[in-house]
Amino acid sequence: MDTTANQALALSAVRRPSDAPAAFLNDVLAGLAAVPKAIPAKYFYDQEGSRLFDRICDLDEYYPTRTEVAILAENRAAIAATLSDSPILIELGAGSTTKVRHLLDAAPGLAAFVAVDISGEHLIAACAALAQDYPAVPVIPLVADFCDPLRLDGLVPEGRRVAFFPGSTIGNLTPGQAETFLRRLAAALGPGAGLIIGVDLEKPAAILEAAYDDASGVTAAFNLNLLRRINRELGGDFAVDAFHHRAFYNAPEKRVEMHLASRRAQRVRINGRTFLFEAGETIHTENSYKYGLDCFAALAARAGWTVTEVWTDPARLFSVQHLTAA
Ligand code: AVJ
Repeated sequence: MDTTANQALALSAVRRPSDAPAAFLNDVLAGLAAVPKAIPAKYFYDQEGSRLFDRICDLDEYYPTRTEVAILAENRAAIAATLSDSPILIELGAGSTTKVRHLLDAAPGLAAFVAVDISGEHLIAACAALAQDYPAVPVIPLVADFCDPLRLDGLVPEGRRVAFFPGSTIGNLTPGQAETFLRRLAAALGPGAGLIIGVDLEKPAAILEAAYDDASGVTAAFNLNLLRRINRELGGDFAVDAFHHRAFYNAPEKRVEMHLASRRAQRVRINGRTFLFEAGETIHTENSYKYGLDCFAALAARAGWTVTEVWTDPARLFSVQHLTAA
């Protein structure tokens, strides 16, 4: 396919949005009515949240992004070898698509590249740029929430499919949710499926807590932006200054938790509903699970996947893994 065709495709992204404003409102109202209060982490990423996340990735304390990129660069040839039969590559949560360039550079013969992301504008711009830089690979943008079952029917050509799921985004799911997600992914991808996934590893609490509560307060701003987003999009009246960012490693659960803690007793109104906060009460906004290699391999096996290769950095902070479906 030539570049012109690619650009035409990029401009006519397939939209399978489930993340309508109604879903955001429903999830926020249900989450604030629950005990303890919690809001799904996927709602961090409005335009401002995505900008703040990009700044997190550049922080000295936030090791995952730069470590994963170094692992991808260091092991290009071995990773490319898993793509040598020209499969269709599908990135879940394609965001800026910088990471996949390492794969596209190393494996130029891919049958197609499908970029799945919830944010359409971001995605189309990124796909147009990719189509220009990789004219031999058809680039197909798919606007969808990858938390929903993936529907590729009629969208991608026949052939073996390999998912690319970097960033340890899998860590936002509980192990039970991750298992369900991986099982559904294998079914959606079909026979012979592959998966190249970034998985953050267990490490001392001090390193984790610095990474999720950085000295310059960018992660705090990222967390608090969720309240601003609720005020902007759902007409909420959160007094944002009356909450503060809290992040800690929950060692028994092997996860970093992020919360927004109420500085005082207060009430918040959203869409005609009132929510009461006690002083010190929190909204649980994110889990970021950390895995041991054996633990992740066992979870993947329960979901029908076999880990065939693990690439890591010298300090064993992060891993990129290749899996095949049974
Ligand atoms: C994008 C989900 C992988 O859990 O490390 C960064 C999000 N939260 N700092 C992570 C995040 C706080 C990030 N993931």
